Amino acid sequence: MPIINRVAELADDAAEWRRDFHRYPELQFAVHRTAARVAELLKSFGCDEVVPDVGRTGVVGVIRGRGPGSRVVALRADMDALPIEEKRASDHCSTVPGKMHACGHDGHTAMLLGAARYLAETRNFAGTAVVVFQPAEEAGAGGLAMVRDGLMERFGIDEIYGLHNMPGLPLGRFATRPGPIMAASDSFELKLTGLGGHAAKPHVCIDPILAGSQIITALQSIVSRGVDPVDSTVVSVTRFQAGTSADNIIPQTALLGGTVRTLKAETREFAERRFRDIVEGIGRAMGVSVDLSFERGYPVVVNHAVQTEFAASVARGVSGAGEVLTDVDPTLGGEDFSYMLEARPGAFLFVGNGNTAGLHHPEYDFDDRLIPYGMSFWAKLIETAMPV
Ligand code: NI
Repeated sequence: MPIINRVAELADDAAEWRRDFHRYPELQFAVHRTAARVAELLKSFGCDEVVPDVGRTGVVGVIRGRGPGSRVVALRADMDALPIEEKRASDHCSTVPGKMHACGHDGHTAMLLGAARYLAETRNFAGTAVVVFQPAEEAGAGGLAMVRDGLMERFGIDEIYGLHNMPGLPLGRFATRPGPIMAASDSFELKLTGLGGHAAKPHVCIDPILAGSQIITALQSIVSRGVDPVDSTVVSVTRFQAGTSADNIIPQTALLGGTVRTLKAETREFAERRFRDIVEGIGRAMGVSVDLSFERGYPVVVNHAVQTEFAASVARGVSGAGEVLTDVDPTLGGEDFSYMLEARPGAFLFVGNGNTAGLHHPEYDFDDRLIPYGMSFWAKLIETAMPV
């Protein structure tokens, strides 16, 4: 593995930062301690600019290369943790009850910090490297908040790249693809109001449970009969709440909730339209009143072809040609790096975390052995994109 020598020396420090972030997980935009530590470290590396409070609690570092050049290439990491109780004992386990870094954003932040330190020290590139640390990836659209706060314009960013660890993929193996790589993630909540009453007199009631069941069944036809079978889509009802502990009551109301995931803008439009039609049509047929809130979440993560191939070529230089997949199947997970790729060309890649518990699992942990891979990838990406 051609990890840059200096990177190998710096990786131990990055692992220390990672474990520190892991001990003090913070949620969404409230990443105050993490962001302050990131800003402090970036300043200590001698970054030319360190700007806090971009998109509320995001941090941006600017590093100018030794050579002249007008290009600006940005690298992005996320800083937020999840509301999960950590179940794995370690010397760096979470000290905050009910919160943990279960998606490896502690590792993403540490790898990018490590790369920033190397780049600020060596400056072996022309142009400008911008390191972006965003809040609220898991929920809250911190990526969008940073874009809306002028991230791209204020720092003159031409291209942007993102990296996420992936359990189940061998350690240090990269995987990406041009085009859609992660899904649009929309959510819905549906309140059905019927007419409650005695279960022995269903004819004088309007049963919201029966109406809800019909709706759930019919919603399955969106994917199975409405969407091209090769165009992956998910419609999942994940909540159905109605009734009490008594068996002899037809309840007045029922509440349904869930998620719709799509990989194409036109499929997203279609799925929402058909969803609304089904809910309204069955609601009318069953005599219940429907109150539907359908919320658009993160858009599809669409990798730009040229930047994806470039990033893959850099990854080959780090992990070897056989360790870089460029046709990985898209996942139906969501990721708000999508907003950054809507604003500028770039690419999103996965890198293997090895055989660990899955993302968002209470026993998950980022593997520190991944740090030199991520740091080398980021450093080589900047040095290759903007050679002196
Ligand atoms: Ni994540």
